[in-house]
Amino acid sequence: MEIQHQFSLKPYNTFGIDAKANRFVAVHTTDELKSVLQQHAQERKFILGGGSNMLLTQDIDALVIHIDLKGKKILKETDDHVWIEAQAGENWHEFVLWTLSQNYGGLENMSLIPGNVGTTPVQNIGAYGTEIKDTMVACQAMKIDDQTLRDFSNADCRFGYRESIFKQEAKDQYIITSVVFQLTKRYHKINIAYGDIQSELAKKGINQPTIQDVSNAVIAIRQSKLPDPKELGNSGSFFKNPILLKSDFEAIHQRFPEMKYYEVSATEVKVPAGWLIEQAGFKGKRFGDAGVHKNQALVLVNYGNATGQEILKLSEEIQRTIFETFGIHIEAEVNVI
Ligand code: EPU
Repeated sequence: MEIQHQFSLKPYNTFGIDAKANRFVAVHTTDELKSVLQQHAQERKFILGGGSNMLLTQDIDALVIHIDLKGKKILKETDDHVWIEAQAGENWHEFVLWTLSQNYGGLENMSLIPGNVGTTPVQNIGAYGTEIKDTMVACQAMKIDDQTLRDFSNADCRFGYRESIFKQEAKDQYIITSVVFQLTKRYHKINIAYGDIQSELAKKGINQPTIQDVSNAVIAIRQSKLPDPKELGNSGSFFKNPILLKSDFEAIHQRFPEMKYYEVSATEVKVPAGWLIEQAGFKGKRFGDAGVHKNQALVLVNYGNATGQEILKLSEEIQRTIFETFGIHIEAEVNVI
């Protein structure tokens, strides 16, 4: 394990921000991770997974530890289910494609999400009606201060919408090293409730979709709306969709009757932030190299050489305008560093 100095993180974050790590090391096994944590116990550390959910607004004056643990294995199987453990550094989409190639069902709606397996439980990634919490049975994490490994069950993770214990009480205390999923081998639960998936399947004349068909539909939708980070730096949805109390929402809805919304509980509704941002006139706008994507206003993009500060400034401008226009506060979904 070689420690590199003044190391550019541009290839390690999907926004493509050229921030520097004071020191950088990649670890490939839990033993390597343990020894790096022990040897550098007193130093400031910054844990880097796939870099797909962060905005770097400054150089990192710490030892950046890149989690590059690879591998997957079947822990057990029955006629109906399989339990697969994937190491944290596995690329998420490649892992999803591998499960589909084995005809294992459960992850197909989350095809093409950028990032690595290890960070998926942190924000309970989700797309098109499915979240990681629906198939994740456990994950293993190393405690940073004493290097012990601990298993977290699904319930231990306290999942919510883009939320988990790893963003709350356990924040900055653990490094997820592997994740276990329970997937179906037959009688797959096809989830095509999301309107866009239905219309994509209808376009192709598919009535009885397989899990591979659902994955292909999701890939087509994502490619049409969301920019590929290899071509245009971005971090997926920059903001969360705000959840409002119904009573607050109703007052706003009277002023903006065309506002889209979804019920999330008896007392709460979720409003698509992409719609709010589009209505506020930001969709497709560009300010220097920072911009709002033309096909999905929830996604901020780096046209090449934007700094993290420029993207942050744009995000604050959007937040301020949405608040002034609708009286709604939208919160960043990405981690601003
Ligand atoms: N909308 C607009 N204008 C826009 C974007 C969206 O009016 O520019 C409206 C759409 O017409 C639609 C609604 O907003 O009625 C929802 O749009 P979409 O289906 O694109 O989903 P989203 O709510 O904008 C969320 C996730 C995405 C995920 C999709 C599909 C969050 C923060 N984002 O976006 O996740 O792929 O649903 O399930 O929950 C991510 O987290 O990085 C991400 C891409």
